[in-house]
Amino acid sequence: MVNELGVAIGIGLTLVAVLMHFSRGTGWTTNEDISQQVLERRAETVPETDFPEPMNRSIGGGAPAGAIGGGEAGGELEEGGDGEGGASGPADIPEDEIEYYEIEFVKEGETIEIANNENILDRGEEEGWDLPYACRQGQCVSCAGQIDGDANDLIEHDNQSMLGESEMEDGYTLTCVAYPRGEFSIETGEQP
Ligand code: FES
Repeated sequence: MVNELGVAIGIGLTLVAVLMHFSRGTGWTTNEDISQQVLERRAETVPETDFPEPMNRSIGGGAPAGAIGGGEAGGELEEGGDGEGGASGPADIPEDEIEYYEIEFVKEGETIEIANNENILDRGEEEGWDLPYACRQGQCVSCAGQIDGDANDLIEHDNQSMLGESEMEDGYTLTCVAYPRGEFSIETGEQP
């Protein structure tokens, strides 16, 4: 009795399995893989930049060594900034407008040429002089010096916020953010 029931169940299950094997199903198939098209369409909507983007959309090209802030790429970036009229400072002078001025460093006992796009503190340091400074951003007066003229006329500062107009009239300048616009003598280490 038990055996007959078991055989009947076995035959029944086998028939179900055979029927399922030959049935046609619902006709459902997987959708076409469109992930590549989606990626390409999304890439088209992102505007191209005129500077290299390492780690971002440099796929295929790779980021050459020195792409960040170096070589031609760095130059393009700077030019782009000028073109948009963005943050241009006293050092952003076209090559054909660069002028050199004779600047006498009284305490150092020497006269050197400094271009109108060169920083006075940097140039002094290039000469090997140990000039005073702290923030190098025009935010303190550690690097101050005094020239023999009106610093409003003879110097262009890049964002200094410490000297008033009358102090500059007296010749005071913050050398870390100062670019010459004429010839003068300067005493370094002189604060107002
Ligand atoms: S070093 Fe601070 S203002 Fe020049």
